[in-house]
Order: sequence, then structure tokens, then C-alpha cells
Amino acid sequence: MNVIVCKNYDEMSACAAEILAAQIKEKPNCVLGLATGSTPEGMYANLVAKNKSGEISFADVTSVNLDEYYPLEPTNEQSYRYFMNYHLFDHVNIDKAKTFVPNGLAADPAKEGQDYDAMIDSLGGIDLQVLGIGRNGHIGFNEPDSYLIPGTHVTDLTPSTIAANARFFDSEESVPKKALTMGIGTILSARKIILMVSGADKKAAVMKLLEGNITTECPATFLNVHKNVTLIVTEDAIDR
Ligand code: PGA
Repeated sequence: MNVIVCKNYDEMSACAAEILAAQIKEKPNCVLGLATGSTPEGMYANLVAKNKSGEISFADVTSVNLDEYYPLEPTNEQSYRYFMNYHLFDHVNIDKAKTFVPNGLAADPAKEGQDYDAMIDSLGGIDLQVLGIGRNGHIGFNEPDSYLIPGTHVTDLTPSTIAANARFFDSEESVPKKALTMGIGTILSARKIILMVSGADKKAAVMKLLEGNITTECPATFLNVHKNVTLIVTEDAIDR
């Protein structure tokens, strides 16, 4: 695993944006796997600036997002579709018809998961997947468990994830209890992966990942089987 240690959040954000920009320049019609949460917000701000300055164009880019709450309307301000529009899509020259987020209102969420993976396959797969990590080691909404599911699927959120995400909602009770998420296999099928991590509260999960073993109790450790992962981490989230 490549590890890039950054001084702070801003440096991590700029570094990740550089990697995405390089991907877009190398392959203008690439498929980007995108993530939500506090961690990538600064990266998106950098990408918007690079688009506005003319350094990069999203005209031919396709995006597929990692996950979405279930059930939740895409117009809800806490939905990940709303997040993506707000932080990136509304500010760059991307064709929104080529931006995909799992449908938080799907009548049949199991089928939505299967269709989502088939859609990714039909795009030729993901060139570069962006990930954050949960304090409990989750990636996407693949939560610690006795087993993990390879494909995109509907999952129950753990109490710790509901509590961590309650800061975005009016109350803990209003956080959806389920989500649609790419599975570990969907994530690992990306050709390149960057994992962004900021903050001392993520250090335990990062150090578990860097031990190099694989356990379903820390889903991020599955990244150890992938050949092209770059961890971009702030110095307070890693012991050296
Ligand atoms: P955060 O979430 O970026 O809001 O910390 C990351 C995650 O839970 O995967």
C-alpha cells in the first residue's frame, strides 16, 4: 500500500484532488467512484476550483457513488445524492445523467444492488475509487460483522455509525437505519483506490489496516488484497 502522510486536512484534500485530476487528464472519459462524508468535502472544493480554472474538465467523466441511505429521498438534504450535487456536481461541467448514486427509494433494494453492479460492469468498471473510513473500520457502509457481502446490497447501519452520522440530522432518531452500499467486491474491483483519512479518532482503524491482515471485524483491512491502494492520511491519524 502506498502511504502519503499529510500535515493536515487541507494538505490531504489537495493531495487527493491532485490524484483525481491526474486520472481525469490521463483518461478524460474515466469512471470515478466517489464518496461522501466530511472527509472528501475539501477534495471536492479543490476539484471545483480546478474545473473553474480550466485545469480539468468533467465533460466526459462518469461517476458512481459508494452508498446511499435507505430509505431516503434524493431531495432530502441529508441524502448522498444531495451531498454530491451540493459539493461537486452543481459546480462543475459534469453531465448529471452520467452521475450515479444508489437509489434510496428503490422499491426492491436487493434488485437495486444487483442492477447497480451490472451498471458499473457495463461502464467498464471503476478507474479510481475514493474511500473514507469509519471509526469502526467500515468502508462504504460495509460494517464490521462476522461476514461481508461482495456485491452492492442493502445493509443495517450499526448503532455507532448511526450515532456518528446523527450530527448531520435533526436527531439520532431521524438517521435512516439502513443503507445501500457497494459491497467489498464492488470496491475491490476498482482499478485504483485512494483512501482518505483525517483525525486522531480514525487512528485505531488505520493502524488495524496497516497491520496487513484481513478481518471482517475491520472491513477496511480487505484493501490489503488490492494491488493499487493509496492511503492519504493526516499525521494525527497514523503512528509511524
Ligand atoms: P466521515 O465518514 O468522512 O464523515 O468521517 C467517513 C466514513 O464513515 O466512511
